[in-house]
Amino acid sequence: MTDGIFKRITDLSPCGILIYDNRIGEVVYTNQTFRDWGILKTEFVEKLLKDKPREIEFKGRFYSVKTVSDGDKLAFILEDITPLKTYQRAKKDFVANVSHELKTPISVIQSIAETLYMEEEDPIKKRFLNRILKRTAEMEALVEDLLVLAALESKEGKVLWEKVNLRSVVDEIIQNLKGFAQEKQVEIINEIPEGFTCLCDGHKIGILLRNLIENAVKYNREGGKVFVRAKREKDGTVTVEVEDTGIGIPKKYLPLIFERFYRVDKSRSREIRGTGLGLSIVKHIALIHGGTVEVESEEGKGSLFRVKIPPKGRQN
Ligand SMILES: Nc1ncnc2c1ncn2[C@@H]1O[C@H](COP(=O)(O)OP(=O)(O)OP(=O)(O)O)[C@@H](O)[C@H]1O
Ligand SMILES: [Mg+2]
Repeated sequence: MTDGIFKRITDLSPCGILIYDNRIGEVVYTNQTFRDWGILKTEFVEKLLKDKPREIEFKGRFYSVKTVSDGDKLAFILEDITPLKTYQRAKKDFVANVSHELKTPISVIQSIAETLYMEEEDPIKKRFLNRILKRTAEMEALVEDLLVLAALESKEGKVLWEKVNLRSVVDEIIQNLKGFAQEKQVEIINEIPEGFTCLCDGHKIGILLRNLIENAVKYNREGGKVFVRAKREKDGTVTVEVEDTGIGIPKKYLPLIFERFYRVDKSRSREIRGTGLGLSIVKHIALIHGGTVEVESEEGKGSLFRVKIPPKGRQN
């Protein structure tokens, strides 16, 4: 197998190739690239065989792994993805650092504008100051969303499993959104049974629910309602629903709303401010719990967002 044209082709490949023979328990072939990497070490091969990973980190470098088996032979085709990983990390760090650095100046501008607004009597100047206040509030929300995403993608993004009283989490969110809901004249109804618990990361599920409930209020109408429900399925999965009687989402946009920075129909969103990051945060949090999020919506009638959190240990 290792001679002739096969050997010459594989030696030209930028991928590292390793073939292991289960019958004799030995590596029977490696191509030139693999040997050049200098990773033909027992611990590396053991890791490959044991975990059959799709990605592997070894001595500070990252490799993507494809596995092909044929009888007793197991071939691993590896690609060095360290430059891609370094780039992704640099991008994430950059976004996180910039967001962090923007936090302080934005809040300084905000508090100065607030003071000036309160002291100003000239209605024209007051209007300008009010616009500054609104815009800084938007910037603050954007920076906040970016920091949440950065945290979720970093080590802090790990799920800290705990028993969480969902009804209380929702009560607290309703309390925090009270002013906003009153302003919009929308009623939020917590239908989660007293004492209902869910095994999840309480802090992150709080962020998820806040985003869904905030949307349900934001994209609602005067006199509208928001219902929050939770139930446990037979297999232990917890299903949480946030339903509203709001403006709804046209069918064609449904597959797009979970994308970063996506906002439905700019013209209708113009008066309703937002960054379009909320639902991507929701999706990310559901996914790291091994769960899912889905949406049903009818334009002009309302929307229903359904999050499923499987029992711990059943994560994919
Ligand atoms: N309950 C809802 N009813 C109607 N449209 C909704 C609802 N939830 C989300 N949308 C639509 O999906 C888009 C994306 O929502 P997402 O929460 O990601 O962003 P956002 O609310 O615009 O901004 P933010 O980052 O501040 O949450 C929204 O712009 C809105 O058009
Ligand atoms: Mg939102």
